[in-house]
Amino acid sequence: MVQAEAIIETRVQNFMHWLSNREIVPTIVRYQQDAEALRQAGPRARGASAYVSLEPCAHHGHTPPCAEALIKAGVGRVVAACVDPDPRVSGQGLAMLRNAGIKTEVGVCEAAAQSLNAGFIKRVTEGLPLVTLKLATSLDGRIATATGESRWITGEAARRRGHLMRATHDAILIGRRTAEQDDPELTCRLAGLEDRSPVRVVVDSALSLSPACRLYATARQTPTWAIAAADAEPARVETLSELGMEIVMTPRSAAGVDLGEGLRALAGRGVTRLLVEGGARIATTLLQAELVDRLAWFRASRLLGADGRAAIESLALDRLADTPALLRLTNEVVGEDMLETYLTGR
Ligand SMILES: NC(=O)c1ccc[n+]([C@@H]2O[C@H](COP(=O)([O-])OP(=O)(O)OC[C@H]3O[C@@H](n4cnc5c(N)ncnc54)[C@H](OP(=O)(O)O)[C@@H]3O)[C@@H](O)[C@H]2O)c1
Repeated sequence: MVQAEAIIETRVQNFMHWLSNREIVPTIVRYQQDAEALRQAGPRARGASAYVSLEPCAHHGHTPPCAEALIKAGVGRVVAACVDPDPRVSGQGLAMLRNAGIKTEVGVCEAAAQSLNAGFIKRVTEGLPLVTLKLATSLDGRIATATGESRWITGEAARRRGHLMRATHDAILIGRRTAEQDDPELTCRLAGLEDRSPVRVVVDSALSLSPACRLYATARQTPTWAIAAADAEPARVETLSELGMEIVMTPRSAAGVDLGEGLRALAGRGVTRLLVEGGARIATTLLQAELVDRLAWFRASRLLGADGRAAIESLALDRLADTPALLRLTNEVVGEDMLETYLTGR
């Protein structure tokens, strides 16, 4: 009985956590949610106040404009937390409501709504996804032993939290070497959240990763994309496409592919929140290019020593004044490990 209650509680907590982290606005979900809320309210929507985390849209996308749906439902007042930065909306949704005689208010809990919608806002305003770099290291900042053993540095509770983070992102990205050495599944395997696995993305410039690796071999079960350099062999592109993979062609760079362009291509495909799960090279390139917005750093109570693999490669820094700026947001005990989260560039 106690065990059953614990399982139910964990599932509820997982769901609530997922809900509180999930962006309400992105892509198709947004339209479905507005329409669904009005459908559920039925005739009770007439004359009622609607509270929305983002201005209702004014354009035809996957569905008719949300502002139109609110007008048709006969709501009396709309309270929007923030204006939609999408140029197709940007004030026009609210204007449409006002023209229909609906009272509008904007800016209520604006900062909270902007944080909730940060991925959507970044994609619309900068053409890039909001990037969270997740690392699991020893106390001395190592991600693997000298022989490359890295599973599992952190404990069960930290791994579960990592899976929860997957469920709150649109895509997870790793480098080709991590895919090769760890052969991960990169799915969300929390009870009740199995269908929340995001798109899996591997940075594999020459598409040299074996089609037999777990990620590629299961591309039909969980969407899997590879970011490849424009000069990747057409035969490899064809083989992987036949497995159900999507290949995102990106200009080549000295390190493999131009990750800035790669991330833009992901944003263009609707990715608002991207979770990067390593390894060190990918992490370093993204940090150097200032493409990381948030860090989620799990630290285990173990030491791997200087011959262990550093989480971050050389940043070629001579002066402390040049180190990437970080602002710590949270500091939390997760099972036997610590989780610290940071905002970058602050
Ligand atoms: N503890 C943790 O949190 C954690 C997480 C993940 C991984 N790991 C460990 O990290 C190790 C692997 O990390 P790694 O640093 O060797 O490799 P990695 O970062 O996983 O992959 C690097 C590879 O990505 C490709 N790439 C393409 N464009 C790139 C670019 N612009 N910048 C960087 N890479 C680019 C390159 O391969 P191509 O030239 O073939 O494209 C490059 O060799 C493994 O031992 C794994 O177990 C630990």
